[in-house]
Amino acid sequence: MKEINVGLVGYNFMGRAHSNAYRQVGFYFPELKAKPVMKVLCGRTKERTDACAEAFGWEDVVYDVDELLARDDIDMVDITVPNNQHAELAIKAAKAGKHVFCEKPLATSVADAKKMVAAVKKAGVVNMLCHNYRRAPAISLAKKMIDNGDLGDIYHWRSLYLQDWLMPPDVPMMWRVQKEIAGSGSLGDLMAHSIDLALWLLGDINSLSCAMETFIDKRPQLDSFDTGLGGKAAKDSKMGTVDVDDGVVALCRFANGALGTMEATRFAAGHKNYNWFEVNGSKGSLRFNLERMNELEYYNCADKGDRTGFRLIQATDDSHPFMGLPKGAGPRFWPVAHIIGYEHTFINTVFDLCQAVATGKQTSPSFEDGLKTQLVLDACDKAATSGKWVKV
Ligand SMILES: NC(=O)c1ccc[n+]([C@@H]2O[C@H](COP(=O)([O-])OP(=O)(O)OC[C@H]3O[C@@H](n4cnc5c(N)ncnc54)[C@H](O)[C@@H]3O)[C@@H](O)[C@H]2O)c1
Repeated sequence: MKEINVGLVGYNFMGRAHSNAYRQVGFYFPELKAKPVMKVLCGRTKERTDACAEAFGWEDVVYDVDELLARDDIDMVDITVPNNQHAELAIKAAKAGKHVFCEKPLATSVADAKKMVAAVKKAGVVNMLCHNYRRAPAISLAKKMIDNGDLGDIYHWRSLYLQDWLMPPDVPMMWRVQKEIAGSGSLGDLMAHSIDLALWLLGDINSLSCAMETFIDKRPQLDSFDTGLGGKAAKDSKMGTVDVDDGVVALCRFANGALGTMEATRFAAGHKNYNWFEVNGSKGSLRFNLERMNELEYYNCADKGDRTGFRLIQATDDSHPFMGLPKGAGPRFWPVAHIIGYEHTFINTVFDLCQAVATGKQTSPSFEDGLKTQLVLDACDKAATSGKWVKV
């Protein structure tokens, strides 16, 4: 079998999720055409990089990205570091002829996102953005049903992405609350996922209005290196300025005539990772909630009488996206209703990525799809600043 030598940059939350996906994908996807090889882990500090490489199963380590990109034995670069580093790394990787897998959001600006698209196109390399939720089987099923016309004409998109981890005022400064590094706050971190799903399921957004707020704009600074893990700041530590949104709400008009509302926040007490959406059409509705990620709720307007109502589809049958082995050879993961979890969204994503590299056929979301999301993020920013409706 062909092999894809991977070089991973970053080892924390997403670095770990991607590493796990490379390890697992061959186990669950026997039809894999090229096997990812966990060749090199790249990090900034020797101690943590070495420890993570050993724990996750990477063959080699480097502490400098240029060293990684100069290696002839690397076929694909995987970027799981903060947002402001995506553009430079992806462009360099493409120039070096490497395929690129990049965490979302694509960039911190439309200008950078455009340069990234141009670079991967020029180099002719496979490029993919990690919007892993697309490949939750229940969401892929929603896509199949909408494309099949099961919902008829689409009237509404409604999404919520709610977390609460940033509410305590003593949560210290970290890259996620700094515009220079993150680009935006809950907008690019959380709503980017909802926007990707909305664009995938409903199509383009034409115009929008938006409001954003920073509820706590001063936070204690950590003396130590920002590992992405947060940690506690000393009691007398200096205060830093938060210059990104803590919460965002948007109203939008889709090109197909649908109306949309989206909300994302890190200040919704009690909500830890509430990624929810609903689509309403002329023939029915669909509803998804990541907290019950194996399920898709479906209302069919054709149902009659006293038994109408939302039905619960357990998207765990062999017939559901990603859930069955090829040629009806049984379940891919476990027997029906033996549920799968968050990590499977990454395993499924990495499967499509590896097939794309093996066949040279681009998969989605590509960097071009990422640019579309970036244009919506940018329009949200402009609309929130101006208080006006903005064309995307
Ligand atoms: N697909 C998803 O659902 C999902 C979820 C979380 C994060 N992400 C994205 O993945 C990327 C990484 O996020 P994460 O949650 O893994 O971040 P993290 O903070 O957990 O890890 C970031 C990694 O980058 C390194 N790093 C390099 N430069 C840094 C800097 N200037 N400041 C801090 N750390 C730095 C850290 O050492 C660490 O290894 C981001 O682009 C983020 O938006 C995607």
